[in-house]
Amino acid sequence: MNVLGFESSCDETGVALVSTRQVGVPLLRAHALYSQVQMHAAYGGVVPELASRDHIRRALPLTREVLAAAGATLADVDVVAFTRGPGLAGALLVGAGVACALAAALGKPVLGVHHLEGHLLSPFLSADPPEFPFVALLVSGGHTQLMRVDAVGRYTLLGESIDDAAGEAFDKSAKLIGLGYPGGPALAALATQGRAGAYPLPRPLLHSGNLDFSFAGLKTAVLTQHRKLGTAATPQQLADLAASAQAAIVEVLVKKSLAALKQTGLDRLVVSGGVGANVELRRQLDDAARRRGLRVHYPELDFCTDNGAMIALAAAMRLQSGAAQASLDYGFEVRPRWPLDQIDTPIPARRPA
Ligand code: KG4
Ligand code: ZN
Repeated sequence: MNVLGFESSCDETGVALVSTRQVGVPLLRAHALYSQVQMHAAYGGVVPELASRDHIRRALPLTREVLAAAGATLADVDVVAFTRGPGLAGALLVGAGVACALAAALGKPVLGVHHLEGHLLSPFLSADPPEFPFVALLVSGGHTQLMRVDAVGRYTLLGESIDDAAGEAFDKSAKLIGLGYPGGPALAALATQGRAGAYPLPRPLLHSGNLDFSFAGLKTAVLTQHRKLGTAATPQQLADLAASAQAAIVEVLVKKSLAALKQTGLDRLVVSGGVGANVELRRQLDDAARRRGLRVHYPELDFCTDNGAMIALAAAMRLQSGAAQASLDYGFEVRPRWPLDQIDTPIPARRPA
């Protein structure tokens, strides 16, 4: 079975083709990505309307590129998958519309995929895929969650951020320090020049006794510290502040992940989402894992941030495991807000026309 997948939930258009196999994880045949980062950078953040318009421009050329790279044609596609949510409504509608129109023209079924399930399963695209069950640390721009994962589609929420996501904490701290969008990678790069212990920043909810996170206070602390430094701040002081902010975020993520492993009695951690690309987070998790005899899995760097491969893969794994069925109903709906632990709740009934 060949699954063509579309990702368009935010500022990246991703398309990929995967093929299921008799045994093992589906095979990624080809994928292509167009990042809108440059376009949005001029505005300091994602402009939803511009994102939607650009997805329209990119979706079909990327599809052609993927099929050519895979040595396949549209006739080889058995199922068309798309990101149903969560994400920007207009951007999601573009991917859903393109996927459903293509599927309708081909007479093939469609499957809407949960974006976070895509992130969560993305480490299965790596050369060293994890085995179930595991604890997943999902750290993207909009979400910070710890989940217990027993099988495809069997996800139990262990804890999550009660305010800002970890990616947001990176992005907002970066903005306060005067770095551009997207802030996470820029803050991480500046942090390599700084001293992590330079400024005492809070580690919110570190000792809360549960697995929830809170990053809004950290942003305020970075703002306060930045104001104290004032306009005379030296490049070294800014690098120190970046390193201190990164250290605070990473310490909370690492400690809570270890606590989740202890609580569940599991010994495998899977990290996914854009913040999973952070080198310092990886270094500290690897260190802790080595000391405690744990395994940590990450997606390939290319598949940490949004991409089409994880959407095609999640669709193929859901179909293969029987967790979902593709449908010939092309009257698509998107779900801009959609908690992962409600992945199987039906879409609210459509209002009569
Ligand atoms: O998963 P993702 O691509 O998009 C969402 O679904 O949100 O995650 C994007 C987030 C952004 O907040 C970005 O700043 C952050 O991931 N990010 C990083 C790094 N690379 C991306 N944060 C810290 N260090 C990085 N190297
Ligand atoms: Zn994402």
